[in-house]
Amino acid sequence: MLVSATEMLKKAKAGHYAVGQFNINNLEWTKSILATAQELNSPVILGVSEGAGKYMTGFKTVTEMVKAMIEEMNITVPVALHLDHGTYEGCYKCIKAGFSSIMFDGSHYPIEENVAKTKELVSIAHAMGLSIEAEVGSIGGEEDGVVGAGECADPDECKMIADLGIDFLAAGIGNIHGKYPENWKGLSFETLAAIQEKTGEMPLVLHGGTGIPADMIKKAIDLGVAKINVNTECQLSFAAATREYIEAGKDQQGKGFDPRKLLAPGAAAIKETVKEKMELFGSVGKA
Ligand code: 13P
Repeated sequence: MLVSATEMLKKAKAGHYAVGQFNINNLEWTKSILATAQELNSPVILGVSEGAGKYMTGFKTVTEMVKAMIEEMNITVPVALHLDHGTYEGCYKCIKAGFSSIMFDGSHYPIEENVAKTKELVSIAHAMGLSIEAEVGSIGGEEDGVVGAGECADPDECKMIADLGIDFLAAGIGNIHGKYPENWKGLSFETLAAIQEKTGEMPLVLHGGTGIPADMIKKAIDLGVAKINVNTECQLSFAAATREYIEAGKDQQGKGFDPRKLLAPGAAAIKETVKEKMELFGSVGKA
């Protein structure tokens, strides 16, 4: 079922678990993530960055593929199709293309401009039945060309944005996209607690889910995180499994070069990663 992410995240926040957002790149990614969510009876959010949308030839292709897969694979768990780190223009494109959720990342604008643009997009998204995520305080590292310095969000600014009627809020708490460096100081739970205090029932979003130790994930959920984004970790497991297949020479045995065979170990590795995350986040059986 393609649904907005509002209800699943309200339920997650109330139930003290988090729903995973797993970014998709192509058919194999989408199929592996949907199949795992169904097998584990877990709600799921499919994240699409603007770069990935472009790679898949456009947001309309993505929507049609996801809707058709939900039908043909008999997926009955709640699935949200969500724009990740959307620009102002990208949000409009995804609303038009039939996404069920958008993120407007106005964190690089001065706060007044972030507020004004977020406010406008909230009213349009809600009128069209979509959920909307907004961001305060940039997430560190680089994702698909979007580079953030990684600062901790100001809890008062978080409240300002939360009060605009958004459905969930991404706030920088020292998290970084991609692999964490050796000298990473860890998540700032002080900042997270202060944000939670100001924003109350608002489900909070933890970006940069790859490589955050399990104890920190659990503590973040305790402090109000209800959505956790994972992208790089699926890419790493896909790449490692594909490398192993090729290095073992399996692509040269029989019809091992057939793309359906060549991509199978990577697709299975994505399923394993998604399963591990859903178990850690506590969303298994919560559909
Ligand atoms: P990672 O690539 O670090 O898992 O981050 C994903 C993310 O936050 C998508 O917005």
